[in-house]
Amino acid sequence: MKVAVFSTKPYDKEALRHYDNDEVDLSYFEVPLNIATVHYAQGFGAVSAFVNDDLGEATIERLAEYGIKLIALRCAGFNNVDLAAAAKFGVRIVRVPAYSPYAVAEHTIGLMLALNRKLYKSYNRVREGNFSLNGLLGFDMHDKTVGIIGAGKIGLLVGERLKAFGCEVLVYDPFLCKTCDEQGFKQVTLAQLYAESHIITLHCPLTNQTKNMINEDALDQMRANVMIVNTGRGGLIDTKALIKALKSRKVGYVGLDVYEEEGALFFEDHSNDIILDDKFERLLTFPNVLVTGHQAYFTHEALEHIAETTIQNLIAFKYQRPLDNEIKADLS
Ligand code: NAI
Repeated sequence: MKVAVFSTKPYDKEALRHYDNDEVDLSYFEVPLNIATVHYAQGFGAVSAFVNDDLGEATIERLAEYGIKLIALRCAGFNNVDLAAAAKFGVRIVRVPAYSPYAVAEHTIGLMLALNRKLYKSYNRVREGNFSLNGLLGFDMHDKTVGIIGAGKIGLLVGERLKAFGCEVLVYDPFLCKTCDEQGFKQVTLAQLYAESHIITLHCPLTNQTKNMINEDALDQMRANVMIVNTGRGGLIDTKALIKALKSRKVGYVGLDVYEEEGALFFEDHSNDIILDDKFERLLTFPNVLVTGHQAYFTHEALEHIAETTIQNLIAFKYQRPLDNEIKADLS
């Protein structure tokens, strides 16, 4: 089966080549998959896509016209896919449900520590021969209250790691979380989590319910000087409201691995470009904001799991076996 693999970087190709075999014939395209690039998929039996590819109705309809019946996502989140359109045009969607929740959980903790102890400033200062500690004052993580929104695979691992620091862990998830009780994490309402947490970290999927959940109203309910960390999806935060809260000093620290308009920026080298996204550029002017470019997942182990599961998904589809990692419209 011929597969057009979009949004591929050298590291993706290297990982996929490890698991590649005669069952699938992969062709790599560096461009993202969207309505402008979908024509590359002509003549292929399936496509593979990544987090910022635009799998809206127009792209899916065109894929269906080309006779493509499978989109193999190389990621867990599927907020970029119009599942209703996929069902309408008979295109099946598979994903990699968990490639390394450890990678994301560890990066989340990394952002918290780097922000708290201002490691990104120390790195530059020391290199310039500036050993002053002014402005680098941090706080003990011990005894702080951390609110985790979304007690899934990643959220729970973040909680475990914070427990080791001696934090009190609060959790908000619409579903009852048995593991939370076992771990000693307190399941609370969103209002309680906002009111009590020194640090709030986002690990729920981006859906119609969670889009812009961190908005002006939510920010108003938080403690002064709160730290907000988002390694979930950019759309969970209303960036304009966040900027306002940073300016008023309501929010004391922000760590972002994702950004709502990241599709136009992330995963590419824009160092010689004029970046036109004023909201993003404003965020970068704050000394207490640390942004990484959707790299939380980026470990050797995660790339290998992504490659292995993607090839398995493609082979299962080729032989019409059950698609264990299929997602359907009613799950969105
Ligand atoms: P998961 O499916 O194991 O957990 C998600 C949790 O969120 C579930 O417990 C679910 O009940 C909960 N949830 C659903 N709606 C909610 C709501 N309205 N409020 C609060 N909680 C809600 O997913 P996993 O693997 O833990 O991943 C979480 C998210 O992390 C993914 O959806 C994805 O967007 C993001 N992610 C980011 C990566 C990165 O590199 N930055 C890599 C992988 C995932």
